[in-house]
Amino acid sequence: MRIVEMTARFAAEMAGWRYPEPYQCYDLAGADPAYFTDPANGFHALVDEDGALLGFRSFGADGQVPGGAYDGAALDTGGGLRPELTGRGLGREAIATGLAFSRRLHRPDAFRVTVAAFNTRALHVVESLGFAPTDTFRATADGAEYRILLLR
Ligand SMILES: CC(C)(COP(=O)(O)OP(=O)(O)OC[C@H]1O[C@@H](n2cnc3c(N)ncnc32)[C@H](O)[C@@H]1OP(=O)(O)O)[C@@H](O)C(=O)NCCC(=O)NCCS
Repeated sequence: MRIVEMTARFAAEMAGWRYPEPYQCYDLAGADPAYFTDPANGFHALVDEDGALLGFRSFGADGQVPGGAYDGAALDTGGGLRPELTGRGLGREAIATGLAFSRRLHRPDAFRVTVAAFNTRALHVVESLGFAPTDTFRATADGAEYRILLLR
């Protein structure tokens, strides 16, 4: 798995992704592909050895959820696998690949992730990579509970 530049082709693919229940809140279907290719949003593609799109990682404010308390002490990272590749044990390598890439590029003091409290699958993966919970809050948009975790 490697990280490469986000292209218009990858972004167009992502803008069709829908996740099976109960993960529909992560659907990208209907999103504007230009959002993913705008460098200000920090999106990068995860590809296999043939260059096929496996998922994406984002670095920066896209990884924040309105309602949470965020400071500049850590770099937010978010992302997702293609829907049909979830639940197969690929998430840990996907996130680790993103962290290694960003350590070289951004050299942050720490990484931060924001994960929905119901999403035990994602929480399991980030905690296995060393992220530790620091806060819990309710999202402004719908009152759903989220956790913030930090990796120093
Ligand atoms: C979140 C994500 C990276 C996790 O990666 P993944 O490859 O799908 O997860 P895995 O199959 O490795 O499962 C992780 C662990 O959770 C466990 N798990 C899977 N489904 C679970 C469930 N419904 N409830 C509890 N645990 C579950 C697995 O058994 C596994 O445990 P293990 O590491 O001890 O073997 C991936 O699912 C993804 O990108 N999803 C997109 C939507 C999303 O949830 N986004 C969240 C962004 S923070």
